[in-house]
Amino acid sequence: MIIKVLGSAAGGGFPQANCNCRNCADARAGKPGLRRRTQSSLAVSPDGMRWVLLNASPDVRQQIEATPELAPHGRELRSSPIAAVVLTNGDVDHVAGLLGLREGLAFRLYASERVLAILASNPIFNVLDHDRVPRIPLQLGDAVEVMPSLHLEAFAVPGKVALYMEDETAGPSLGTQAGDTLGLKVSDASGRAFFYVPGCAAVDLELARRLTGAALVLFDGTLYTDDELIAQGLSSKTGKRMGHISMSGPDGSMAAFAPLDVKRRIYLHMNNSNPVLREGSAERAAVERAGWEVAFDGMEIRL
Ligand code: MLT
Ligand code: MN
Ligand code: ZN
Repeated sequence: MIIKVLGSAAGGGFPQANCNCRNCADARAGKPGLRRRTQSSLAVSPDGMRWVLLNASPDVRQQIEATPELAPHGRELRSSPIAAVVLTNGDVDHVAGLLGLREGLAFRLYASERVLAILASNPIFNVLDHDRVPRIPLQLGDAVEVMPSLHLEAFAVPGKVALYMEDETAGPSLGTQAGDTLGLKVSDASGRAFFYVPGCAAVDLELARRLTGAALVLFDGTLYTDDELIAQGLSSKTGKRMGHISMSGPDGSMAAFAPLDVKRRIYLHMNNSNPVLREGSAERAAVERAGWEVAFDGMEIRL
């Protein structure tokens, strides 16, 4: 299996258009040790020829341009090696790229019933012709063959409904339902498998059990500390309020993964405020000491 990180940043990308935080300002100024990053998406292939996109980033066009494997390689005048797109939630950074996959691309689109309902309720997504782009609901726990030699299982993880779907009248849940945030287990014909969990609010017992002993987990690396947006004066929201577990701290992902025997663990979906984006920072050293890698755009993993 070949896995390519198309975009390793959270919503907004890095640097973010309206942000002058230290990370964004330094990245914009071209200071060393701060790679630019596009928004969250992964490409997976069993053979390097046919690909599935896990999430469709607003930066999808740029990501395809940067990835020769995703260019048309047949003799037909119009074609694409992208055979399927799978969505893990309804967030803008994961669905807006569908609009960049119009112009007649043909692929199967997989998402939860809830996310498919969001797409169905917004006529702009009708630019994707339903015949060329069939929409297929992902049932929790079912193994789906997204293409020959590539299976995928969706499971619910603790999370939050998409920002634009939040219902303040629903109390602290904001109207979140089970399955609004999915993790994916992706397996090839030989049984090799990895987990993709780009958004996650907590590692509960069920998720810990599921990930135990995994060969590879690509996991939510939005924030280093729960209050970093507040501390940097960027927003009034904690990570918990946004549905994102932080890396550090007793409730953080580094601590949660420590006993899980995951062979390779990689953070992605980093927010621009996250100090691990700064190579050489104490925080970057801390996650690496805990056995984590920090994904970058173009990172290729073979499993
Ligand atoms: C998130 O991951 O929390 C969302 O992508 C936030 C957003 O929509 O910008
Ligand atoms: Mn996001
Ligand atoms: Zn910033």
